Amino acid sequence: MKMTRLGQTELMVSGIAMGCWALSGVETWGAQDETEAVRTVHAALDAGITLFDTAEAYGDGESERLLGKALVGNRNGVVIASKVRPANLAHAELIAACERSLRNLRTDTIDLYQVHWANPDVPIGDTIEALQQLQKEGKIRAIGVSNFGVRDLQGFASLSACETNQLPYSLLWRAVESKIVPECLKRGVGILAYSPLAQGLLTGKFESADAVPEERRRTRFYSSARPLARHGDTGCEEEVFLAIAEIRSICREIGRPMAHVALAWLLHQPGVTSVLAGARRPEQIRENAAAEALVLDLDTLQALDRATQAVKKAIGENPDMWQSQSRYR
Ligand SMILES: NC(=O)c1ccc[n+]([C@@H]2O[C@H](COP(=O)([O-])OP(=O)(O)OC[C@H]3O[C@@H](n4cnc5c(N)ncnc54)[C@H](OP(=O)(O)O)[C@@H]3O)[C@@H](O)[C@H]2O)c1
Repeated sequence: MKMTRLGQTELMVSGIAMGCWALSGVETWGAQDETEAVRTVHAALDAGITLFDTAEAYGDGESERLLGKALVGNRNGVVIASKVRPANLAHAELIAACERSLRNLRTDTIDLYQVHWANPDVPIGDTIEALQQLQKEGKIRAIGVSNFGVRDLQGFASLSACETNQLPYSLLWRAVESKIVPECLKRGVGILAYSPLAQGLLTGKFESADAVPEERRRTRFYSSARPLARHGDTGCEEEVFLAIAEIRSICREIGRPMAHVALAWLLHQPGVTSVLAGARRPEQIRENAAAEALVLDLDTLQALDRATQAVKKAIGENPDMWQSQSRYR
């Protein structure tokens, strides 16, 4: 697997990373067998994946605990990325949250510690002071953010090193391209692309919006009439499934599975350091890891761009997957 430098750090990470949210088996994802979760992490390691992303918020620490368990005896060469909740950004809360995450992960240091979402109620200087204290103590190695819009990123990066911005980015979710990607490029902040398979849509396994599990139909792809939606948008279900049909025919032409094409497309986009592909089973992460070697030619990249323009237009400039009133500033 090709390795990329994480921001301006010395850390090198695999282009395909494993996202560990679904391993917690709660909220959006439904039950997850623990042994299968551990086997999935081991399959990722065997496939050459070295970056694993988790968060204290995923299953209230359960994702971190499972990752920590799976990494016992396998910690060398692995880059662990975790995140602190927006509710824990004040100094004392942040230090306590990091200590909990270290215990969950059974490690002495978190390689990349990220602010999960900005919190306008906590002075950013307070958060940064706590992060820098943790860094001095060796409890975290690098600092990053997630879901930061241009203004928040400028404010943060003017006071602290900021190696990465973790953002929702996929063939079907391109809202970050207009303003946030250029800002990251300008500042040398690496992009970690999340929900790169659009929560399974870009594997081609769902034939219609009705076939998608209800807990996943919360995002702005789907109509606000869907029971668990907490946005007010009409959604763009029709555009999404028309785009998927187009992508399917492009994949057929080049003879590659849709998951490979979706993940490889991201690796061809400027500023993307690594693609956080979620997986719940060993065969999924093996399939996802194989995408790293796929080189897409210009014709294919242009065809994929055309296929996803209507969804891009429908989603607009708000990168927030779940809320019409964007939390990005
Ligand atoms: N910073 C943030 O706010 C934020 C938000 C969301 C995610 N993330 C990060 O990004 C990671 C990935 O995003 P995500 O989990 O939302 O979505 P994703 O990577 O787009 O989709 C992952 C899901 O798709 C299915 N899948 C994966 N590979 C597959 C394959 N090869 N074939 C068929 N199905 C496959 C699996 O679920 P099923 O088998 O159940 O279909 C898996 O859980 C997360 O784990 C997390 O680390 C961060």
